[in-house]
Amino acid sequence: MQNGENYTIRPAEISDLDGILSIENQCYPNPWSRTLFEKELENPVSTVNLLFFGDRLGGYLCSWFICGELQILNVATSPACRRRGVAAALISHVFERSLKQGMEEAFLEVRVGNLGAQALYSRFGFKTVSCREKYYSDGEDALLMVFEASKG
Ligand SMILES: CC(C)(COP(=O)(O)OP(=O)(O)OC[C@H]1O[C@@H](n2cnc3c(N)ncnc32)[C@H](O)[C@@H]1OP(=O)(O)O)[C@@H](O)C(=O)NCCC(=O)NCCS
Repeated sequence: MQNGENYTIRPAEISDLDGILSIENQCYPNPWSRTLFEKELENPVSTVNLLFFGDRLGGYLCSWFICGELQILNVATSPACRRRGVAAALISHVFERSLKQGMEEAFLEVRVGNLGAQALYSRFGFKTVSCREKYYSDGEDALLMVFEASKG
């Protein structure tokens, strides 16, 4: 974390949803709904990790871990907390946990136009392996990015 700021990371609970949705709605034109987040909290393969500065929510990361594969579904940082290492700290946390559980590969989709997120994932060793045309509802393509633990 930049400037050695103190932070904590913990799994989300239902009572965190208002804070999560507040960030989600500021981050995406088509944000996830409350129901969708509720389903993630109930899903045994899903984890929603939250990063806090004190009691202030800085960002979150939703991922699935299945049979050695980590899928990053959603990572978002409060606009007020950007470029302070929030997303990087969340990815590091999830990678550390998943590697201990035998992660062989991690993958995610990212908008072709989201150069900031692509730069973030590249720093962790994710490589673009293919393009999914018109993947998003507004017609934008998605890049599929993959991290291979054996090469990481
Ligand atoms: C993408 C996003 C999650 C990054 O969160 P963040 O907490 O600001 O990222 P970090 O501070 O951890 O960044 C770590 C590194 O990633 C890269 N990076 C992150 N955001 C970047 C940007 N906008 N432009 C260029 N590089 C960027 C940089 O290398 C950065 O290190 P640096 O600040 O020392 O240069 C955030 O901008 C966001 O929530 N965007 C809206 C939601 C979104 O697009 N999510 C990703 C969906 S695939």
